[in-house]
Amino acid sequence: MATNYSSFLRFPFGLVLVLFLIGCSSKKVEANGFKELTADVHYHSHVIELSSLMPAEVCSTPPKVSGAENLSKPLQVAHKYGPCSPLKNGNTTIPSPHQIVLDDEIRVKYLNSKTSKNQTTVLQDSAVRIPANSGLSLGTGNFVVNIGLGTPMQEFTVEFDTGSDLTWIQCQPCSGQCHRQKDPYFNRSASSTHSSVPCGSNDCNQLKSATGNSQACTTTCTYRIGYGDGSYSGGYYARDKLTLSSSDVFPNFRFGCGENNQGLFGTSDGLLGLGRDNVSTVSQTIQKYGNIFSYCLPSTTSSTGYLAFGSQAGTTPRIFNTPLLVNSNRPNFYFLSMTGISVGGKKLAISPAVFTTSGTLIDSGTVVTRLAPTAYAALRSAFRQAMSNYPRAVSTSFMDTCYNLSGYSNVVLPTIVLHFYRYTDLNVHPSGILFQLSSTQHCLAFAGNRADTDFGILGNKQQQTFEVVYNVAAGKLGFGAGGCR
Ligand SMILES: *[C@@H]1O[C@H](CO)[C@@H](O)[C@H](O)[C@H]1NC(C)=O
Ligand SMILES: *[C@@H]1O[C@H](CO)[C@@H](O)[C@H](O)[C@H]1NC(C)=O
Ligand SMILES: *[C@@H]1O[C@H](CO)[C@@H](O)[C@H](O)[C@H]1NC(C)=O
Ligand SMILES: *[C@@H]1O[C@H](CO)[C@@H](O)[C@H](O)[C@H]1NC(C)=O
Ligand SMILES: *[C@@H]1O[C@H](CO)[C@@H](O)[C@H](O)[C@H]1NC(C)=O
Ligand SMILES: *[C@@H]1O[C@H](CO)[C@@H](O)[C@H](O)[C@H]1NC(C)=O
Repeated sequence: MATNYSSFLRFPFGLVLVLFLIGCSSKKVEANGFKELTADVHYHSHVIELSSLMPAEVCSTPPKVSGAENLSKPLQVAHKYGPCSPLKNGNTTIPSPHQIVLDDEIRVKYLNSKTSKNQTTVLQDSAVRIPANSGLSLGTGNFVVNIGLGTPMQEFTVEFDTGSDLTWIQCQPCSGQCHRQKDPYFNRSASSTHSSVPCGSNDCNQLKSATGNSQACTTTCTYRIGYGDGSYSGGYYARDKLTLSSSDVFPNFRFGCGENNQGLFGTSDGLLGLGRDNVSTVSQTIQKYGNIFSYCLPSTTSSTGYLAFGSQAGTTPRIFNTPLLVNSNRPNFYFLSMTGISVGGKKLAISPAVFTTSGTLIDSGTVVTRLAPTAYAALRSAFRQAMSNYPRAVSTSFMDTCYNLSGYSNVVLPTIVLHFYRYTDLNVHPSGILFQLSSTQHCLAFAGNRADTDFGILGNKQQQTFEVVYNVAAGKLGFGAGGCR
C-alpha cells in the first residue's frame, strides 16, 4: 500500500479527484460528453457513464476559421473522423471500430518491422493486408492539424505522426495517383517561395537515409516512402515556406511533394512527421523551438486538443518526467522506460526484465497500448477479476477481454496506472481503459504482443487528456494530467 499511496500522491489527477470527493461527493463531473460520476475514496476505481463512451455527433469546440492569419497557436488537434475534424465535410468514409482495430494491428506490425530502415521488407503477413483502395486510414495519425505551405499560404489538414519523419502533402499536377482530399492539391506554381531540392545535395542524401530509399535521381531529388500496408507516397523533395501561425514561419522547410500516393490516408492532405530524424519537422524547426514539442489528445471526438512547438506548452500545473531513450535499432522513435503496471491500486507482480527486453516506445499513431505477452497476461487477469460482475462479450482480433455493458448505464472500472522510470505514473484517464467496438462490446484497450521481442507501445488511447511533453533536447518526456478534455 505504501508504494501505491506515494505514487498516488505524486499524481495530480488523483489529487484533483480527491479534492473533488471532499468537496462534492455526489455531483457529476461532466467534460464534453465524457462523464466520470465518482471515484472511490481510495481512488482505485472510476465510475463512468457508459453513454459517454459512445461516438459523439457534435463538436463542442468549433474548429477555427480557416485562413492564413487564423491558424491557431498552438495548433488545434482534432480526431480525424470526429465532428471537430476539419475533414468532416469532405467525402471521408468513417471507418468502423472494427476497421480501426485492423488498422491498428497494421500500424504495430509496421513499427516493429521497420528495423534497419528497410521499408521494403515490411508486412509480409498477408493476413493483415487490406486492399489499398478500401478507403481506410492507415492509422498513421488518427489526429489531424492544419498547417500552411507556400506563399501565399495554402492551407492543409494533415495527420501528425511521431512514428515517422518525412512531412509530405499531395501536389499538383499529380502525374501519378492521388487520393481524394478536401482541400485542393498543393499548387507549386502558385507559390513564389517554392523550389525543389537538387539531386545529390546533402538534403537529398539525408532524405534517402531517412526513408531508406535509394531511388536514383537525375536533376530533382525524389522520394518514395512506404507505410507497410501497400500504401505509399512518392514524388519530389521540395522546399517552401511552412506556416504554423502568423509568428511561426519557416522559409526553407523541406517536405515531400507527393505526386503518386496510394492512399490509405482517408481524405487528409498528407502527413506531418514528428520523429527524431533530421528530416522531421521537429529537427527542421530546432533553432526556433529547441527540439521541444507537446500535444494533448482529447478524450472524445467531440472535443479538441493541441499540438504545440517549443516551450509554449505548459497548460498543466505539474509535469512528471521520465527519461526519453534512444534505441539504436530504431533511432527515430521515442523510447521510454516502462517499469510496471497497477490495476485497482495493486501493483502487478511483473518482473522488470519483461519491460526491458524490447523497450517501450510512445507513439501518437497507435491506438491501443501494446505490452509484452507476460505483462499483458498479468494486466488482463487483474482487470478480468475486477470486472467479474459484468457479462463478457466475444473477442475481436487482438482484443480478448470484452464485455457486454448494454444493460448498464454506469460502469465501475478499476484504475490502471502505468509506471515509468522513475516516479512517473500515468494514471490512465477512464476514457482510455475501454475501447467500444459496438454497443454490446466494450473491450479492454490494451493488447499483448505476439513476441517478447516486439516493442511495447504506449498508444494514443492511454495518452488521452494528458499534456505529453517531448523535451528531446533535455532527453525527457513528461506527462501532465488534465491537459485537455
Ligand atoms: C481570419 O479570421 C477573421 C475573423 O474570423 C476573418 O475576418 C478573416 O477573413 C480570416 N482570414 C482569412 C484569410 O480567412
Ligand atoms: C464523394 O464520394 C462519392 C462516392 O465515392 C463520389 O461519387 C463523389 O464524387 C464524391 N464527392 C466529392 C466532392 O469528392
Ligand atoms: C531489405 O529487404 C529486401 C527484401 O526483403 C532484402 O532483399 C534486402 O536485403 C533488405 N536490405 C537490408 C539492408 O536489410
Ligand atoms: C496553379 O497556379 C497557377 C499560378 O497561379 C495557375 O495559373 C494555375 O491555374 C493553378 N492551377 C490550378 C489547378 O489551380
Ligand atoms: C543530422 O544533422 C546533423 C547536423 O547537420 C549531423 O551532424 C548528423 O550527422 C545528421 N544525422 C543524420 C542521421 O543524418
Ligand atoms: C447484451 O446484453 C443485453 C442486455 O443484458 C442483452 O439483451 C443482449 O442480448 C446482449 N447482447 C449480446 C450480443 O450478448
